[in-house]
Amino acid sequence: MSAAPLPAALAGLVAELGPAGAHTDPADIARYLTDHRRLYVGRTALVARPATVGEVARVLRQCALAGIGVVPHGGNTSYCGGAVPDESGNQVVLSLERLARIRAVDPAGGTLIAEAGCTLAAVHAAAQAHGRRFPLSLGSEGTCQVGGNLSTNAGGTSVLRYGMMRDLVLGLEVVLPDGQVLDQLRVLRKDNTGYDVKQLFLGAEGTLGVITACALKVFPQPADYATAIVALEDIAAAVALLGRVRDAFGDLVEGFEYLPGVAVRLALEHVPGATSPLAASEPALALVELAMPAAIGDLGERFSSFLQAEAEAGRIRDAAVAQSGLQRDTFWFLREHVPEAQTRAGASIKHDVSLPVARLSEFVTRSTALLDRIAPGARIIGYGHVGDGNLHYNLSPPAGVTKGSAEEAAFLGLKDTVTRAIHDLVAELGGSFSAEHGVGRLKVAELERYEDPVALALMRRIKAAIDPAGTMNPGKVLR
Ligand code: MLT
Ligand code: ZN
Repeated sequence: MSAAPLPAALAGLVAELGPAGAHTDPADIARYLTDHRRLYVGRTALVARPATVGEVARVLRQCALAGIGVVPHGGNTSYCGGAVPDESGNQVVLSLERLARIRAVDPAGGTLIAEAGCTLAAVHAAAQAHGRRFPLSLGSEGTCQVGGNLSTNAGGTSVLRYGMMRDLVLGLEVVLPDGQVLDQLRVLRKDNTGYDVKQLFLGAEGTLGVITACALKVFPQPADYATAIVALEDIAAAVALLGRVRDAFGDLVEGFEYLPGVAVRLALEHVPGATSPLAASEPALALVELAMPAAIGDLGERFSSFLQAEAEAGRIRDAAVAQSGLQRDTFWFLREHVPEAQTRAGASIKHDVSLPVARLSEFVTRSTALLDRIAPGARIIGYGHVGDGNLHYNLSPPAGVTKGSAEEAAFLGLKDTVTRAIHDLVAELGGSFSAEHGVGRLKVAELERYEDPVALALMRRIKAAIDPAGTMNPGKVLR
């Protein structure tokens, strides 16, 4: 696609931001135009890269005055096209990558203040340097930025214990579309002062303003982990195990991930270095992790005894408890590389759904029957965060279908029918079509279809009140 012309209204802004603060050369701009999944390829004349909150404010104010759309852009790991411009060439990309300082850490108070462009890994490292831990855990932590984590209300693998990003936030600094700075960067755990307006910006995907910094909760570093891979009959057995593990270990349970056998085998086949401690033929695996804040006993031994009793009672098929930190890493490697395995295997039809945990098994049984009719032979790679009710319910073509073949194209042609069937069932069972990946551009129509009309109308009123010119990430979440 050709480069877009720079609107005259932005010439002064480009000069003000200077060479480091503004990319206008197509070669520099290219990497901001395509999303992680390559669903969209947009155009823009300008990628603004402000280094201060004041510069962010100038970009937003200038664009609002000129009626130019602004697309906030973090680590570009979005699954829904939320961080890339449209094809018109009329939108400006605003990258937060130069706003990447850790402003403060208070280990005793359990707080950390980071700028939006810090990678999640940098936040982890800063907390760790002070003997603390920031628990949001995602496979993309080295690339994703905390501003994106906030704007999409990211989830990940420890939601069971610590909640989603929203639950980890104490304060925010946000630039509003007209350039005003909302200073709510407080580190208070108690603060009942009227409406909690910062909440509006969490999960808003940049449609109401730009988050420039956040005050986060940090926690003591776990002194001890106990991590197991458990073989199970099916997802019903996994949910039952989840209940019993929580009975036995309470809040020490911080990860409970589910992998159907087909997902395990896909990872073993396609990802170099992936291994499983249990037989590849097992119908399903769960990765269960406990963490203890202080070393007050041998957690690993207790967990092993628990699992042994489970096996003797015939409630689980087999289990392996990690014997070292290195082995723990290999367990997580297997889990975290399932998405990559699916990408390497070829095209897929993805869903990010959540359900009441008690209805997960019914969902899997009923959706499997539906899909057997709609897409016979398709492999259902339904894996993920069973502990919090979130499944990545992705379909791969039938085994043997090669990348780029006519059969693969025919499979992809079923996408809309498949997605409608799955999302309708999710809605019927009281679930959500967008658990943790956001709405972005991809799921705008789904939001219109499934959201409570009263909530949707309220969202539109909030959008109109905060962003009257409609310049914040146009076309994302709402249209
Ligand atoms: C995961 O849990 O692995 C991700 O959220 C889903 C993905 O990367 O496909
Ligand atoms: Zn996930």
